Amino acid sequence: MEETKNGSQQLAVISNIKPNTLIDEIIDQGKEYVRLMSYYTGAMMEIETKFKVLNIEFNAQFARNPIEAIKTRLKTPGSIYEKMRRTGKPISVDSIEAELNDVAGVRVICSFVDDIYRLADMLAAQDDIRVLRIKDYIKNPKPSGYRSLHMIVEVPIFLSDSKRPMRVEVQLRTIAMDFWASLEHKLRYKKDIPAAHAQEIAQELCLCAEVVSRTDEQMLSIRQQIENAGS
Ligand code: GTP
Ligand code: MG
Repeated sequence: MEETKNGSQQLAVISNIKPNTLIDEIIDQGKEYVRLMSYYTGAMMEIETKFKVLNIEFNAQFARNPIEAIKTRLKTPGSIYEKMRRTGKPISVDSIEAELNDVAGVRVICSFVDDIYRLADMLAAQDDIRVLRIKDYIKNPKPSGYRSLHMIVEVPIFLSDSKRPMRVEVQLRTIAMDFWASLEHKLRYKKDIPAAHAQEIAQELCLCAEVVSRTDEQMLSIRQQIENAGS
């Protein structure tokens, strides 16, 4: 009589690996995944602290805060899986680290547009930071109207017995750009919009982004007028 096999035994036969080894491998991958996510969390903390330090230094010098808020987010397992699948990359812990730049994300909400570039330059100039890529969607907005400055940076984290460079996606934007991006993101996921209407809405959103951008320019100009009047 043929021997019956449970699920993991069947998988093990398919993979030509002994059952215990297969289970060990799954557990090991799980542990490695959790370990990798802890590294990304550490890297986000490093970047967040760097911006906080720049903010308090600037405040002490000029009596205003260039940063309104800092938000950090770790990509969810679901989004990681979906992106790896969509881009046809192998689903493994090593491959996640090799292929994805945006597992760790830090969003810096600034008061004024010139603060964005000043902070980006200050971060880039730090000797433990390696800038891998900059995308300036402020000078070159996306067709949607989206504006922000994106940087992929590498920052070292210090572990019990080693130092490890980790990649972090930094998005710098003004409060106004953040307001637009948050609402546009929410509206994008509204379903059941007929194609013709969707195009109209996209155009309207793009116009809103331009209004928001002009407001940013005006606010910066007002701040500069006040500064000049005071000096
Ligand atoms: P992804 O695979 O989406 O990460 O694309 P990418 O690696 O080419 O990065 P990109 O520079 O396009 O930036 C992606 C991120 O920017 C997204 O995860 C969003 O946070 C933000 N983003 C880009 N375009 C838009 C947009 O049109 N609207 C909004 N609300 N956010 C956007
Ligand atoms: Mg992304």
